[in-house]
Amino acid sequence: MDNLRNRSAPNMAPEEVDIICRVEPGTPMNAAFKRFWLVAGLSADHPEPDSTPKRSRMLSEDYILFRDSEGRMGCLRERCCHRGASLCLGRVEDGGIRCIFHGWKYAVDGTILDMPNAGGYQFKKIYKQPAFPVVEKGGMIWVYLGAVEEQPPLPNFRWLDFAPEQCVVTPVVYESNYTLAIDGGADSSHFAILHRDSCITPHAAADSNIYDKLLADVAPRFDTYETVFGQYSAAIRTVPGPQGEDTQSCRSSAFIVPATVLVAGTTADKGLFAFFMPVDTHRTIAYIGNFDVDWSKLEDGQNMVDFMGMGKANLDHLGFSREAADRTERANRANNWYQDRAAMKAGRFTGLAPFVPEDVIIAESIGMISSTDDHLIPADQVIVRIRRILLNMARDVDAGLAPVGLREPIDYSQILCQEKIIEEAKAWPDVMIPPQFLQQGTITS
Ligand code: FES
Ligand SMILES: [Fe+2]
Repeated sequence: MDNLRNRSAPNMAPEEVDIICRVEPGTPMNAAFKRFWLVAGLSADHPEPDSTPKRSRMLSEDYILFRDSEGRMGCLRERCCHRGASLCLGRVEDGGIRCIFHGWKYAVDGTILDMPNAGGYQFKKIYKQPAFPVVEKGGMIWVYLGAVEEQPPLPNFRWLDFAPEQCVVTPVVYESNYTLAIDGGADSSHFAILHRDSCITPHAAADSNIYDKLLADVAPRFDTYETVFGQYSAAIRTVPGPQGEDTQSCRSSAFIVPATVLVAGTTADKGLFAFFMPVDTHRTIAYIGNFDVDWSKLEDGQNMVDFMGMGKANLDHLGFSREAADRTERANRANNWYQDRAAMKAGRFTGLAPFVPEDVIIAESIGMISSTDDHLIPADQVIVRIRRILLNMARDVDAGLAPVGLREPIDYSQILCQEKIIEEAKAWPDVMIPPQFLQQGTITS
């Protein structure tokens, strides 16, 4: 028993849980996230110049995104710098957004273009609406909310340059802390259990070969390595080889600070990424991207999105889309997230809407990491170490140090995951981790 206890991981201390979970202004994690480019929304939310502005809540603060008459995207604080009216109510016209209270008008960089109630006073040269750098890439709107002098380059992930039909990004709203949403993406140990029905239900978009392997061994061994961007990890399963012999199937995945997960098996050409944006301490929007260089039309990606349970009608029904998230009636604790007990009696394992919604529901059912009640085992090591990386990231920023991910230039296009049959479990980093990403002396396997 003692021996087993030594193999379990300790829970985090309450103050450590606080540091990684709380993201409101004034917290170390708020400052840490603001050192990185973050996803604020989708380009498709702003289909044309002067289209309707949209609110984006990030890290417990409200911003507005709008596309001006020239098609430029702006990210401003929602609160008008005059007396605080919401710019989400503003008129988007003639190269800027105009507050409807007293008519002050702002350009995408926050410059005041017009101040109709100021008479002859030139306050517009003195004041400025807080504005933030924006880049549109991969169908997403990336913003940088930190100090100008610390702005890093936008990560050069390969899929950001894919054609729109090769990469589909779906926002999914979790009523949970972002750390639990990350867990769902990074924790391969739940896959063949929580998502069992999704794995065994045939679907045109699904590669049944992969799911057969995942189901063949529901107790994979895990191995993790700290890297200059976060963590590489591997799930190693014993699966039958061509002659029915035991072989070791190794699937690697990556966690990239502050909040990106590449799920196991994601390669250069095909796979799944997710950026888990903390809306506030209790809500997260996951921007989940399915990509494949072989897709030639939008339906290809849409088939995969549907297979993963992220079709628009399904997310609206559950209340997991951005549009439906604030609806009073949604899948929630009070209605047991619409769990279908009759379907469970009839053979379905979870009785929940399949696949990604299962991850959302589990995260929501947990709500927040517990510093006292969790009982961790070796199968939890991937998420335990991600939490440590997040903790160190926040502490470093708090101490005025460069955090992991910002200490040296990183070629994000080379962060690739793989699936391979390996000879020996310990050999996987040699074939799966580009050496430039390994940190000296920080191997944590
Ligand atoms: S509050 Fe916006 S112009 Fe006065
Ligand atoms: Fe999952």
